[in-house]
Amino acid sequence: GGDRNRPVLLLEWYDRNRRLLPWRALPGEPVDPYRVWLSEIMLQQTTVKTVGPYFEKFLARWPDVAAMARASLDDILRMWAGLGYYSRARNLHACAVKVLRDHGGRFPDTEEDLRALPGIGPYTAAAIAAIAFNRRTMPVDGNIERVVSRLFAVDEPLPKAKPRIHTLAATLLGPSRSGRDGKSRAGDVKTRAGRDGKSRASDVKTRAGDIAQALMDLGAAICTPKKPSCVLCPLSDDCAARARGDQETFPRKTPK
Ligand code: ADE
Repeated sequence: GGDRNRPVLLLEWYDRNRRLLPWRALPGEPVDPYRVWLSEIMLQQTTVKTVGPYFEKFLARWPDVAAMARASLDDILRMWAGLGYYSRARNLHACAVKVLRDHGGRFPDTEEDLRALPGIGPYTAAAIAAIAFNRRTMPVDGNIERVVSRLFAVDEPLPKAKPRIHTLAATLLGPSRSGRDGKSRAGDVKTRAGRDGKSRASDVKTRAGDIAQALMDLGAAICTPKKPSCVLCPLSDDCAARARGDQETFPRKTPK
């Protein structure tokens, strides 16, 4: 086990087991920030299963951010019906208008600039920065909180443990390099991914988004709240909670 191997183990597992979700690019396909943004807004308070058909419907009607900016808010609200938390739909429209007007129709590629957009908080900014732009940042949701609290046997209870869990989660992105925040550049595609355009598990530095999504999938499918399937987990040899035999007791919570 050990710190160094975890990102590679996660990517190897993800390359074999990733869920095929409508907003995910296929291996070798370019990632569309508009799709990533739309899916992350929908997934804020809604399950993957429910979001699927809504995402497809929205994408068919408004294939890019300019199309959504030109839509009427009423049409967006009608299409949103059933998803709940309707401020998300209002922010969706406001965000599309702002991206078109202030950013020439291209999503900004830093967490800071993303956070300045309507409907995008710290979690969503990190998710878009990592998944759409491979920025070296970790969006820590409930699933990732659970995986990380087990992996490192974080004894401190939630919510107090959040900053610690966030720091530990970021170590799964591999060592940081000075200067460029892990953002991939055009040249990396050829030099790191090879001429066939396929990503490799050894491309840790340019695959922050896949590492984050590997943890999301691991939390959803393997490192579940009850009876986690540790025998299937790529990090089980390395899991501090499992070594103690009490993986199900993490994350600890402050009694209500
Ligand atoms: N939940 C939030 N973002 C997600 C993603 N990109 N994949 C799977 N589940 C998610």
